This record gives sequence, C-alpha cells and structure tokens, in this order.
Amino acid sequence: MQQPPSDAAPMAARVQNLTKTFGAGESRVHALDDVTIGLRRGEFTAIMGPSGSGKSTLMHVMAGLDAATSGRVFVGDTEITGLSDLELTVLRRSRVGFVFQSFNLVPTLDVLGNITLPFELAGRSPSPEARRRIDALVESMGLGDRLRHRPHELSGGQQQRVAIARALATRPDLIFADEPTGNLDSRTGREVLALLGAASREHGQSIAMVTHDPVAASHADRVIFLGDGRVVADTPRQSAEAISAYMLSSEVGA
Ligand SMILES: Nc1ncnc2c1ncn2[C@@H]1O[C@H](COP(=O)(O)OP(=O)(O)O)[C@@H](O)[C@H]1O
Ligand SMILES: [Mg+2]
Repeated sequence: MQQPPSDAAPMAARVQNLTKTFGAGESRVHALDDVTIGLRRGEFTAIMGPSGSGKSTLMHVMAGLDAATSGRVFVGDTEITGLSDLELTVLRRSRVGFVFQSFNLVPTLDVLGNITLPFELAGRSPSPEARRRIDALVESMGLGDRLRHRPHELSGGQQQRVAIARALATRPDLIFADEPTGNLDSRTGREVLALLGAASREHGQSIAMVTHDPVAASHADRVIFLGDGRVVADTPRQSAEAISAYMLSSEVGA
C-alpha cells in the first residue's frame, strides 16, 4: 500500500521507539515493539489490526494513561514520558478525550452527570456554547429521554453513546476512541463517524479511532495497521473495499 506524504505536519501526539511490555519472565508480553508514529494535527486516523496487536495499548500510552516501557511519548510538543501523575492528569483533562472499550462511566452518576463530568473535574461549569454542544450531542446520540438514567439502566450501545458524548463535550484537541462503533446499530454508528469526522474537519480536532470495521475506517483520513505490536501499514484514506482487500491479503484483519 501507498505511504503517507512525508510532509512535516505538526503532530497532535507521537511516539518514538515505543516499547511496551507487560508481565515478567515466562509471562512477559511485548504489546508494542519499537513503534515510531505520529498523529497529525486535525486528522482523523483509524487504527486497525487483529485482536492483541497492540491497538488499545498504543492509544493508552499516547494518551498518558499507561506508561511506556521504553521510548518517548509526546502530546503536542509536550514530552509526557517523565511527567508526574498529577501533571499527566492536568494535561489529559485539558486536552484529551477518551472513549474506552469498557466505557468507564461512573455508576453513581446519571447520563447528564457522566457527560458533564469532564467539566466538573476541571472545576468549571459548561459555558453557554458548551451547553448547546452538549444538547446537540445528546440529541444526535438519541439520549434525550435517558438523561436521568444511570449506566446500569442503559443498554451497552446507550452506554457507549454516553461515553462518546462525554469525550466530545469539552471539544478536546485530541480524541482517542477505542472501537466507538463496536456496540452500535449501523445508523448510530454512522452518526458517531459523522461526529468524529466533523470534529476533525470543522473544529481541527485530532482523532485516533480503533476499529475492526472497514466501512468505519474508510471515514478516516489515514489508516494505520498494527500487527504483533508493530506498524505494518500506514496509508492515506482508502475505500472500504480497498481496506477489506488489504485485510484479507495480509491477514491483518480482525
Ligand atoms: N494490562 C495488561 N496486562 C498484561 N498483558 C496485557 C495487558 N494489556 C494488554 N496486554 C497484552 O498486550 C497485547 C496487546 O493488547 P492490546 O493492546 O489490548 O491489543 P488490541 O487492542 O489490539 O486487541 C496482548 O497480547 C494483550 O494480551
Ligand atoms: Mg483493544
């Protein structure tokens, strides 16, 4: 597959010679093996690869949620390897949104409380503009009649939509979304992809999205494939058909 343009676009986040291992001795796992890659500012990047290839680990390390074993990690121009937990927390709160595979909703808060949690944590209440944005997110995610429900009263797909609304609510510079369309029906899935696309195109936000779905990945400006903890392909926007064909031919598919 084609290589991306080699222009030195500013990076929203990047890792240099990143290695991440889990465990020790016999049970040691190399989740990431000498990965050097950057997410270009304002771009929507899809990350694909088989289960266990290191996709979630790469996003967690890039977002400062998990420490590198070796190598360097930057968010914008800030090297985060070596920051204290407090410094990392402050950086994440002000700049990064994350949609986890496990949703990570707060069980004791209702839907609205979960969506506005990033504002609470930052000690500010949403501006009128942010309130309008939250209303629009609630509307497009079909959560209007669920605002007072708690996570355990929602389906998996609804919880996922709450997590997406929460990640977009503060309009962060950088959004990591781990299989954000995995539990959604196709209509809501398209809505999520449209929201992520608009976040990058209209608001210059940088998005990294893990997906197994070639149709979802075809919405991205760039597709990165991981295999066994390494980057095995890095391509500009592709059609769903081309992505499927590549996944079949290289057996890097889901
Ligand atoms: N917390 C952890 N402890 C031990 N091994 C882990 C942990 N997280 C991930 N791994 C291992 O690292 C590898 C990559 O995992 P992951 O990044 O979750 O892959 P993916 O998201 O592509 O499915 C896998 O072999 C996985 O079992
Ligand atoms: Mg994963």
